[in-house]
Amino acid sequence: MNANASHDTIRAVQWHGDRLALLDQRRLPGEEIWFDCRTADEVTDAIRVLAVRGAPAIGIAAAWGVVLAAKSGVPLEPILATLRAARPTAVNLMWALDRMRSRIDAGADADALEREAQAIQDEDLAANRLMGELGAALIEPGSHVLTHCNTGSLATAGYGTALGVIRAGVEAGRITQVYAGETRPWLQGARLTMWELVRDGIPAKLVADSAASHLMKHGEVKWVIVGADRIAANGDTANKIGTYQLAIAARHHGVKFMVVAPSTTVDMATANGDDIEIELREATELLSIGGKRTVIDGADAWNPVFDVTPADLIDAIVTERGVILRPDESQMQAVFG
Ligand code: MRU
Repeated sequence: MNANASHDTIRAVQWHGDRLALLDQRRLPGEEIWFDCRTADEVTDAIRVLAVRGAPAIGIAAAWGVVLAAKSGVPLEPILATLRAARPTAVNLMWALDRMRSRIDAGADADALEREAQAIQDEDLAANRLMGELGAALIEPGSHVLTHCNTGSLATAGYGTALGVIRAGVEAGRITQVYAGETRPWLQGARLTMWELVRDGIPAKLVADSAASHLMKHGEVKWVIVGADRIAANGDTANKIGTYQLAIAARHHGVKFMVVAPSTTVDMATANGDDIEIELREATELLSIGGKRTVIDGADAWNPVFDVTPADLIDAIVTERGVILRPDESQMQAVFG
């Protein structure tokens, strides 16, 4: 194995004092293109079109959007509302904007807001490092694991959530093989997770989403490890579409199921998963692959991009505040209440 010793080389969201540079996730892995956002509206657009994506990363980007607005002297209230509406499911977006708003309400100027956004970004990276250690400790040495979507450096301030646990697990010899589901329709697994894993020299194989149950049946994986976009007060977890069926298959086959997310993804104001808004995106994302139409003209499609995994299918929720085994409302309350 040609493992990169640091397993942590990508920073996809970079603040440069007067602009936010983003590694365009629509273009990976074919092209590594960076572009600059100089206004909050450009940040909103980047979030909407998934140029920047992943729950923690969109919260961080939105915080920098507020800084751009504050530096240019435009009224902040409409900017906060526009950024908040960019995507509905990942609560990290709303959390970051609420944190920026509380500083604005306390009279913070543009420089103070810049320090706050930097703190949000730095804290996310530190949480990922800690979760990596906590999550990896749950895994028996020599295990194979399956992950879904992209939860790595691209989706966070760096290192990753579920992918952070995988990075730490590989480093510690606890994980020896990673399977990544391709994650139709946007292919976050195929395009982004495989890009991160191969760059880090981590043994990884892509699987079709529809191969997951077959993989588990043959005893190939010990853990399914995923991230989250919102964790409700009872532990129900919204994540990328397809996560729920992985949790059902995992329970059926005796495979353990781990959710890894910072506390900024926990939403104690939402009682359970039924109350989480699931983003519906355009049918065209499903009707074509790589911009090429694959379905007969005139066909329609239903494209929910997240689903909710009930808490009782989750063996462990790993946050930087600790590990919750078999999560339920009272355990969530004890840690996050
Ligand atoms: O639509 P996306 O690509 O933003 O969805 C991302 C996911 O579902 C991730 O699993 C989640 O945000 C956690 S990222 C650390």
